[in-house]
Amino acid sequence: MNQENNENMLFPVGMENTLSTANEDFVRENLMSDSFLDFVEENTKPIDQLFAYYQCAIMEVETKFKVLDESLSVELERNPIESIKTRVKSVDSLLRKMKKKNIPLNLQSIEERINDIAGVRVICSFPDDIYDLASAFLAQDDITLIAKKDYIKDPKPSGYRSLHLIVEVPIFLKDEKRNMKVEVQFRTIAMDFWASLEHKLHYKHDLPPERAKALADELRDCAERIENLDQRMQAVRNEIATYNEENPKESEFPGFPF
Ligand code: GTP
Ligand code: MG
Repeated sequence: MNQENNENMLFPVGMENTLSTANEDFVRENLMSDSFLDFVEENTKPIDQLFAYYQCAIMEVETKFKVLDESLSVELERNPIESIKTRVKSVDSLLRKMKKKNIPLNLQSIEERINDIAGVRVICSFPDDIYDLASAFLAQDDITLIAKKDYIKDPKPSGYRSLHLIVEVPIFLKDEKRNMKVEVQFRTIAMDFWASLEHKLHYKHDLPPERAKALADELRDCAERIENLDQRMQAVRNEIATYNEENPKESEFPGFPF
C-alpha cells in the first residue's frame, strides 16, 4: 500500500520526470484531456481539501489500531499487530477506477462511489488476532460498517486472503464534523507476504496463455501452503496459551499487589 504514499497531490513538482512510459498514453488521454483540466482548474482547492480529509480519516483509524494493540498487549502478553501500513490513493489510480466504473468527474461522485481512497492495512500475528481486532474496532460507537468482504473464509480465485472492511469514521474539523470512508485490510504476516509478492508479479504482460495459467496455478498452490502455515502457527500459539492459563506463573513478589 505504501507505494502510493505521497502521491496524493494532483501535480507534484517534477511529476513529469517520474511518470513511466507505460502511463504516458493514459496520462495524455485522461490527465491532459480538456474535461479533466477544466475539472482541476475549478476544483484544485476542494480536491486538495478532500484528500486532506481522507488523510485525517487514516490518522484516526491508525490511532484506533495503535490503541487496541497497546491495550490488548497487556491481556495477551504480546502485541497482536505486527505493523500498520497506510496510503492515500494516487490520483492516477483514482482516475483509472473512475474511468473503469464510468463514474462522473465530480467530487460528490468520488466521495459516494469510491471506497478506497483512504487505505489502512493492519498486519497481524495470527489469524485469530484479525477477527478479535476487527470486532473490537467495529464495536466502537463512532465506527460505521459499510461493507465487509471476508476473503479469509472465501479466498479469491487468485488465492488472495484478507479481511476487508469499508467503514465510515468521523473527523472533527474547525467547525464541522465529516464522515469519511476508509478501507481497512486485515492480513497475517503470511497473507501479506503472498499478496505483496503476487501483486508485484502482475506485470506479466505477454506470457503465452498456457504459461500464464501454469503460473496462476502455482501462485494458488503457494497461497494454500501459506494458509496451512498460518493454521499450524495458530495451533502452536493456542497450545502455549492454554498451557499458560492452566499453569499460571507464580509471582516473584508474593503478596505484592502489582
Ligand atoms: P477494486 O476495484 O480493485 O478496489 O476491487 P473491489 O472494490 O472489488 O475490492 P476488492 O474486494 O477486490 O479488494 C480490492 C483490494 O484488495 C485491491 O486494491 C488489493 O489491495 C486487494 N486485492 C484483491 N484481490 C487481490 C489479489 O488477487 N491479489 C492481491 N495481491 N491483492 C488483491
Ligand atoms: Mg482498491
